[in-house]
Amino acid sequence: MTDLSDTTVIDRYGVVGDPIAHSRSPVIHKLFALQTGHRMQYDLYRASPEELEDTLRRFQREGGKGLNITLPNKAITVRLVDHLTERAAIAGAVNTITFRDDEMWGDNTDGVGLVTDLLHNLRIGIKGSDILILGAGGATRGIIAPLLEQEPARIMIANRTASRARGLAEHFSALGPVEACRFADAPQAGPWHLVINATSAGLRNEKLPFPPEVIDRKTIAYDLSYSLNTTPFCRWAKEHGAARSVMGWGMLVEQAAESYRIWHGVSPDTAPILNQLEVSAS
Ligand code: ATR
Repeated sequence: MTDLSDTTVIDRYGVVGDPIAHSRSPVIHKLFALQTGHRMQYDLYRASPEELEDTLRRFQREGGKGLNITLPNKAITVRLVDHLTERAAIAGAVNTITFRDDEMWGDNTDGVGLVTDLLHNLRIGIKGSDILILGAGGATRGIIAPLLEQEPARIMIANRTASRARGLAEHFSALGPVEACRFADAPQAGPWHLVINATSAGLRNEKLPFPPEVIDRKTIAYDLSYSLNTTPFCRWAKEHGAARSVMGWGMLVEQAAESYRIWHGVSPDTAPILNQLEVSAS
């Protein structure tokens, strides 16, 4: 029963996207809060790009403290916040908003989430490695700069629409060695230590359009997507002989941990949460 003598206002957080019902963010943030002893509320908010600004303003008026932003709203949020961190500006996407002093502060923790998962959870070295990223959409934009910071030998972006890959390679070329190619040209440009899937291909059960020769028996395949069953990309990579194939559960938890640190000033321990989500890596 509610204790009416307890008048403490609970800080409100949440995640905004469309669709949103499937989101694991409330579970992850509530587990972090239990671990660090914070009292807070974390809810789901469904908002299409057209509804986003109203949703953010209402949350702000009601005294909300922080929001995560997910598909399809990450790029549009850049235009709606009052301030952007450098990494959000470079990524052209916001996944974390902090509401402070009547202003919205936009940040992006996706890239750091991926890098932390690779380096610390999976013990996959990035320095000196040859990385192939499949896809040139918003997800790719968010991970290039944090990967380049770790000094890979090079990053190749391959995309169905080659001009989009070239645009991204040009945009990031001042930060390190980034090139672009078509899917068909990616095998000759290899071999690849790490192949990252940042496309939405395969999610509707269609055949994956990537040449299998980008995978060899030393290749680690990382899918930014995650699901309870093995994703089509991870299955495809294993079928073609990849050394390991990993879904993006660890990135999900690590980007949430970085958002949590921004909001609450403490870094939660992600290991027990990763275990609890029964993260599957093979
Ligand atoms: P996100 O923000 O999730 O990256 P996006 O900007 O729509 O979403 O980008 C989706 C990526 O998946 C793009 O690289 C897209 O390729 P195009 O730029 O050629 O559109 C890629 N993609 C989606 N469906 C695909 C398919 N069936 N085959 C190959 N690539 C696909």
